[in-house]
Formats: sequence, C-alpha cells, structure tokens
Amino acid sequence: EERTFIMVKPDGVQRGIVGEIIKRFENRGYKLVACKMCRPSKEHLEKHYADLSKKPFFPGLIQYMSSGPVVAMAWEGKEVVKMGRAMLGATNPLDSNPGTIRGDFCIDVGRNICHGSDAVESAKKEIGLWFSAEELQSYKSCEFEWVYE
Ligand code: GTP
Ligand code: MG
Repeated sequence: EERTFIMVKPDGVQRGIVGEIIKRFENRGYKLVACKMCRPSKEHLEKHYADLSKKPFFPGLIQYMSSGPVVAMAWEGKEVVKMGRAMLGATNPLDSNPGTIRGDFCIDVGRNICHGSDAVESAKKEIGLWFSAEELQSYKSCEFEWVYE
C-alpha cells in the first residue's frame, strides 16, 4: 500500500493546526501509520531538504524548520502521495485554492505550515529518514471495506 510523509511545520504546531491537518486526512479515509512530535536538528533538515541546498532561501528554510517542534506523520492509502499534495495545496499559499490546507490557513511561502512528499520515491526516502521500522505500524483499519470498493 502506498505511503506518504506529511509533516506539520513549526508554524503549524505554534498556531494549533495539528488536529485540523490530521482530521482532514482521517476524514478522507487515509490511515495514520506513524506519528511523532520532535525538534529536528539542522543536520537532519539538511538531509530532508538536500535537493534544495542550492536555493537562495535554503538557509532561511533550515532556520524556520528547526525553530520549534514539528509533527511528523506517515499516512497510507490509495494514491496518498498525489492526494496528499492536492490536500496541502500549492507550495505558495497565495496560489493555493481555498479548501486546501494551505489555502485555508496560511499566506507566505516561507510559513506554509505543512510538508508533503512530492513522489512515491521521495516518500519512501523521507519516511526512512524520519521513522525507524519500529515506529511504523501495519494494521487493518475497521473502516477499510467502507472506504474501498
Ligand atoms: P514541501 O511539501 O514543504 O516540500 O513543499 P513543496 O514540495 O511544495 O515545495 P519545495 O519542496 O520546492 O520547497 C520546500 C519548502 O521550501 C516549501 O514548502 C517552502 O516552505 C520553502 N520554499 C519553497 N520555495 C520558496 C521560496 O521561494 N521562498 C521561501 N522563502 N521559501 C520557499
Ligand atoms: Mg518538496
């Protein structure tokens, strides 16, 4: 089953939007398979955002992301990587449609409250970076037959 890595960034935690983000994924029918709050180190974030290391906003991004606790999660379900991105909305909240998480809760690209993996491959990499095997749960949700045909 496909999995994605979703994270509530420090601004999302500070602003009390953790429950709202979890609620949207639960309501949709996706299954939570890992969840923890942690304060990521700069070294860890540099690995997570390695692809962006040449960008001018990279130092600011690492500063922002290490400025407080985050909530890291893995969600499972059909096409959850693509749907997770759609539920988050465009990277720049000014381009995010109302109804998406970013489109409903934030304004600036540098304070866009949540992260979602951009591809199945990067999701695997990110889940491996943020979670140990023991932290990932495998279970059958009781609503499975009522969510999937
Ligand atoms: P994530 O789900 O957080 O990975 O966002 P994304 O995949 O939609 O965008 P990308 O991976 O390209 O950028 C990662 C994060 O860097 C974004 O979510 C923003 O927080 C930040 N970022 C991206 N572009 C800019 C920018 O032009 N300026 C600033 N200040 N931050 C940016
Ligand atoms: Mg990204």
